[in-house]
Amino acid sequence: MSRLIVVSNRVAKTDGANKGSEGGLAVGVMAAMEKAGGVWFGWSGKVDNRDETAKHEVRGNIEYVTVNMRQSEYNQYYKGYANSVLWPLFHQRPELMQYSDRDLSGYIQVNKKFAEELLKIIAPTDTIWIHDYHLIPLGKILREAGVRNPIGFFLHTPFPSLDLLRTVPGYKNVLEALLHYDLVGFQTEADHLGFCMGVCQGLGGEILKHDRLRYGDRHCTARVYPISVETQALPGVADRGETTQEYQRLYESLGDRKLLIGVDRLDYSKGLVRRFQAYDRLLGHNNEFLRQVVYLQISPTSRGDVQAYGDLAKRIDREAGHIIGTYADFDWMPLRYLNRGFRRKTILAMYRLAHVGLVTPLKDGMNLVAKEYVVAQKPEDPGVLVLSELAGAADELDAAVIVNPYDVDGMAGALAKALQMPLDERVDRWKSMMSVLKKQDIHAWQQSFLGDLLHLTKPQTIDS
Ligand code: G6P
Repeated sequence: MSRLIVVSNRVAKTDGANKGSEGGLAVGVMAAMEKAGGVWFGWSGKVDNRDETAKHEVRGNIEYVTVNMRQSEYNQYYKGYANSVLWPLFHQRPELMQYSDRDLSGYIQVNKKFAEELLKIIAPTDTIWIHDYHLIPLGKILREAGVRNPIGFFLHTPFPSLDLLRTVPGYKNVLEALLHYDLVGFQTEADHLGFCMGVCQGLGGEILKHDRLRYGDRHCTARVYPISVETQALPGVADRGETTQEYQRLYESLGDRKLLIGVDRLDYSKGLVRRFQAYDRLLGHNNEFLRQVVYLQISPTSRGDVQAYGDLAKRIDREAGHIIGTYADFDWMPLRYLNRGFRRKTILAMYRLAHVGLVTPLKDGMNLVAKEYVVAQKPEDPGVLVLSELAGAADELDAAVIVNPYDVDGMAGALAKALQMPLDERVDRWKSMMSVLKKQDIHAWQQSFLGDLLHLTKPQTIDS
């Protein structure tokens, strides 16, 4: 059987005990890797100018191979092109882009460094699965080095329309690089369409039968594979979370009050400012909720040394201060805002305690918090998911209370509706969402992507 090599910038070494700030890629890929096993290659998370040797470490059935990054690589590749160009661009915020040729060449350089290390470990029968916007050129670099193995790519973020993509210098290289993969996976139809239109109108390529695209002598297949969660296992993890001290303390601190919960990395794509404003409006316009609700927002700091993230943190601090200063009483805090993560099991138990789960990004590839919130609920008394129509998850979870994250009044109304929703409607909506999540879990995601990748390719060897 062929070995799976997963490549992503961020690897997750922890299991169910991780602290929940890694984001959807690490959570989703970890769940998939735990079952299939294989090699997981990526950045160690460390910046070190002296030690560049790859470290190998086996945990369970996963062999982790990680490399450090030099300070200049971190600045140009991670902080620069990946998170100050591609991330804002793919999340429809071109005004936040900070493009420079130097960062672009640092980005390519780190992709070459990853390729060099991978060439040392790739065996002829391996299947290679590359993840996310940090590593778009990696497949092309491996192909140019003679790798003939099946190589797939999955984009965890949205993919922009051609109009938006054109705002980045050298946008054609992004499209052209993706055409070097055998299979490219997207979260939603809209992302897939953005790519197909880019290839056709931006490059002059063409769409063939069976989701294949052609540009010059390059062919690739592009399809939609919505990432998901461990639907079967998560309720058990939430059960274990209910025995933690943190959960018990939260439970006791609430009394009869209803809990609203949000769990998001501190990222401008998550729509936190407008979410806080909607909560402010809910309390300002509906006296009956005063003292009756508590909103817990868990937001671990993320990419804090990128300016847009630092600016956002200050802005959210102001909004939080405003809510607390306006509504808090000496014995009631309407908002608990935390810049730290918790163990996964604790978070899942907290979801279960929350009457309302708030997932209101301005743009999001999928958003696994939305899916985890649903799966963690108790069937006899489920909470209500308030979900942005601009999250990929809204394509599948249309039984959530769907909101436009730019419409602050609309979101305040949705919060009131969610807090007052009768039990039978909550159960109906939950059942409908669960029926999707039972069919489309993380294992189905992995199997359909890898199954298609293997079907589309024949076993090949590396030219040495
Ligand atoms: C998103 C991205 C991932 C990334 C994660 C956390 O989910 O799609 O690729 O790993 O955010 O961000 P970080 O910059 O800490 O890796």
